[in-house]
Amino acid sequence: MQFSSFCDRFAGQAGIVQLMDDLGKAMSGDRDVLMLGGGNPGHIPEVQQFIHERLQRILDNPAEFSHVIGDYGPPQGDVAFIQALAGLLREELNWDIGPENIVLTAGSQPGFFYLFNMLAGEFKDGSRKHILLPLTPEYIGYADLGLTDDLFHSNRPEIEILDGHYFKYHVNFDELQVTTETGALCVSRPTNPTGNVLTDAETLHLQEIADSHHIPLIIDNAYGLPFPDIIFTEAKPLWTANTIVCMSLSKLGLPGLRTGIILGPDELVKAITNINAVLSLALGNFGPALVQDIVTSGEITRLSRTIIRPFYEEKAKQALAWLHHELDGLDYYIHKPEGAIFLWLWFPGLKISSQELYQRLKERGVLVISGHHFFPGLKEDWEHRHQCIRVTYSMNPNQVEEGIKIIAEEVRKAG
Ligand SMILES: Cc1ncc(COP(=O)(O)O)c(C=O)c1O
Repeated sequence: MQFSSFCDRFAGQAGIVQLMDDLGKAMSGDRDVLMLGGGNPGHIPEVQQFIHERLQRILDNPAEFSHVIGDYGPPQGDVAFIQALAGLLREELNWDIGPENIVLTAGSQPGFFYLFNMLAGEFKDGSRKHILLPLTPEYIGYADLGLTDDLFHSNRPEIEILDGHYFKYHVNFDELQVTTETGALCVSRPTNPTGNVLTDAETLHLQEIADSHHIPLIIDNAYGLPFPDIIFTEAKPLWTANTIVCMSLSKLGLPGLRTGIILGPDELVKAITNINAVLSLALGNFGPALVQDIVTSGEITRLSRTIIRPFYEEKAKQALAWLHHELDGLDYYIHKPEGAIFLWLWFPGLKISSQELYQRLKERGVLVISGHHFFPGLKEDWEHRHQCIRVTYSMNPNQVEEGIKIIAEEVRKAG
């Protein structure tokens, strides 16, 4: 069979394909693998209980059940859910936002595909634009989403060394090159893979830069406020008439529901609504149906603040203790964990590449992700990108502890 260039672009061996393949196998039965690689959220009993009860109420109500499984919804997404969400964001964050600013997608991943290709790529007048990632390392899932080549430009960060084997990345504003060919800026905050949370000052400055060039700032809020609130530091969420905020139900613990949310100006929302109709007809009903009542009541933020955030904070603390113990005596740094569900480890003196370390760990049954994948758009081959790995700590603690021991052994062996 001969496939078109569409397949060359989207069906190749992208980093995300390898990652989701490893993840899918580990989550569907290959229990011998210590899965410290994927971005799967933890299974939090209290959250699952909430969803279970809500599902039971749907099952017990024949009219609602029949609607949820039997009807196509509108291509903007479920109307009642969108209204409830606008109410929550106005109430909790004081954002000037209405239903006309909200559209759903089947997970935020396709939402990024739409956004990046709407705001960058080829334009009718023959011009080409790119998406600027002001700070790498940045989310691996963006890397292969372009309908055209060279969709991303990105920058190296500044590195601040902190006490106790920690460090923190900052945006290097001196090097940031926003040109007439930049279509948008994009940052994940908290950042996947590092757990960095851009400071309020950095975020505001990025917004000012975007405003002065009349382009939007996209903030990927998959781990942020008001839900799932996996943020361990003080951070003020940002929303302006020129910000696009992307959210998701996934990191609440519901990645199987595939519900993403885009907040933005109404013309953008209308365009994505039409794209949804063309590409998907409608969105899945289950995500909105299962969380609508906790969005309406505001319970979703309480759940995030009192159950989800402490769940991850505790896991991060525990994983850090194991890491410092096992890596003792080695040349290592850990990015200050300020949010999300990962730890980002940097081994400056590592004699092998992070990809070789990944391979050696995989042979020993431990899956992590080599850091070099997380620099989409970075043109220079910076040695730092081959010295880092991402470790997920959301899984079963025995697996995380065992995995960390093996990581330390392999780093020690590599010299
Ligand atoms: C930063 C970030 N953005 C977006 C996504 C996509 O999430 P989903 O498509 O499940 O909503 C992820 C998933 O890991 C992520 O970490």
